[in-house]
Amino acid sequence: MFTFARRARPGLAALAAACFTATLTAPTLAGGDPMPWRTDLTPKDRGRVAKVTAAPKAFTAPEPFEPMPGGATTNTRVFGRDAFSQFSGNLDFAGEESFKLGNGLFRRLWVSSPSSTQAADGLGPLYNSRACQNCHLKDGRGHPPEGGDAESFLMRLSVQGSDGVDRPHPVYGGQLQDLAVPGFPAEGRISVTYEERPVTLADGTVVSLRAPTYAVTDLGFGPMGEETRMSPRVATPMIGLGLLEAVHPGDIEALADPDDADGDGISGRVNRVVDDRTGAIVLGRFGWKAGQPTIEQQSAHAFFGDMGLSTPLMTAAAGDCTRAGQPACFDLPTGVQERLGAFEVPQDVLDLVVFYSRNLAVPARREVDDPEVLRGKELFHASGCAACHQPKFVTRRDAAEKELAFQLIWPFTDLLLHDMGEGLADDRPEAEASGREWRTAPLWGLGLTKAVNGHTYYLHDGRARSVLEAILWHGGEGEAARDAVAGLDEADRRALIRYVESL
Ligand code: HEC
Ligand code: HEC
Repeated sequence: MFTFARRARPGLAALAAACFTATLTAPTLAGGDPMPWRTDLTPKDRGRVAKVTAAPKAFTAPEPFEPMPGGATTNTRVFGRDAFSQFSGNLDFAGEESFKLGNGLFRRLWVSSPSSTQAADGLGPLYNSRACQNCHLKDGRGHPPEGGDAESFLMRLSVQGSDGVDRPHPVYGGQLQDLAVPGFPAEGRISVTYEERPVTLADGTVVSLRAPTYAVTDLGFGPMGEETRMSPRVATPMIGLGLLEAVHPGDIEALADPDDADGDGISGRVNRVVDDRTGAIVLGRFGWKAGQPTIEQQSAHAFFGDMGLSTPLMTAAAGDCTRAGQPACFDLPTGVQERLGAFEVPQDVLDLVVFYSRNLAVPARREVDDPEVLRGKELFHASGCAACHQPKFVTRRDAAEKELAFQLIWPFTDLLLHDMGEGLADDRPEAEASGREWRTAPLWGLGLTKAVNGHTYYLHDGRARSVLEAILWHGGEGEAARDAVAGLDEADRRALIRYVESL
């Protein structure tokens, strides 16, 4: 037997903080309402939602709806190479058409200006890749730099000001672009070397973890300076993002426990970031440090930083080029066409890319009723994984699209930041995330990484080569869970990993 530590109900402070988001009205702590912040639901529905999202009590059989982690949007048909490229299962015909148009734009290879293909030019001058899909390979995840190929990988850059705030590097900008248009120097090349660090588990099994060291060579614009802070990141999988966007902010705030009031050793903090459109401070949920609030904003930053393309949200056609260090960048031709508007990527194109990104379906679970998988599920809860990898939410009724609304989803993330210890630290803050904090990575679809991407490299920089290595890197707030796994015997360890791989 084990007791699953339920997370504390939010204190008044947390609820007050929740009022940051305009969608929440003043909370009423009226008699027993389990989720007063869910003003999108009737009181009766709140009761139902609280019940269906409660932790499981038995592990002898799957829970109702467990095989369908994306609710009605779940992909129930395709589990091979294209497992992450299916559209929401409940899209109507018009939605399917928009998805296909968005897919074309996600795969579009942008070219530098001037060019005869006017609707697809404007790439660069500095860029990391010519297409969204080249990093989000098969709508799945990227990999660490390998033999000169660092395309599905990014190195974010910043320098701390005297006021303690990190800003983009004065010369190299917010990230290192390792490609540039013809005749213009790229910023540099990223490579990685690993040091093997053996870890001995309780049963004597030795697992080797590889600790990365990054190097930037062939710098195009002079030395970067010792004070530069770098954060390495592989491209994230693209599945289920619209559902994550539709998780009610109040549900995320309710899981936060910044001062560890319940004393379980796990705090969990919300990242708060700027909404580019309104200037308001809102809850962050996308990216490895939850540094972006919406899929639209994350996508606009990708067009801007990764490809050097302007959108109505990020309006500079020269992308991440800096005036101070790369002035010649601003004299190069841009892809802005009078007849198409003021930006290289107009709003309707951005809208289609966002629609596509919102509707990549999460695959159905496999082997959900296998006894070993169910045993693994029990161990997942008993080891404390679910304290961060929050299994269930019910999305808001007033979601951006009806298909994404009021779905019981199983993302296995609380979308909160956790201190993961020195081993995983990048020592580079992002909005309110510290240099040791990362957003709990969603685990849905994780077991199909091999089928889709041909590898099993996990964590923010792809350093882990297996699920077990990923777990053994957990430190800080995740250390107790890590130790619990390191203490399991072989059969239980196998069951836990099989469960994670069935997600
Ligand atoms: C150079 C590689 C690269 C390219 C090109 C790229 N991305 Fe990404 N993408 C990433 C990385 C790396 C992250 C994680 C970013 C972070 O942690 O800050 C990411 C994160 C995201 C996320 C957040 C997903 C999540 O789980 O939080 C979305 C959405 C996204 N990208 C959309 C796009 C779109 C749309 C495009 C094309 C306009 C694009 N990306 C192009 C590398 C890339
Ligand atoms: C304190 C919160 C916390 C706990 C507890 C925790 N995790 Fe995590 N987990 C994270 C965070 C944060 C990340 C992302 C870390 C990174 O990329 O550097 C992560 C990443 C992972 C990944 C890699 C995901 C990916 O997309 O690359 C796996 C697998 C994983 N966790 C499994 C587990 C398992 C199994 C347990 C229980 C033994 C567990 N975690 C316990 C917070 C936690």
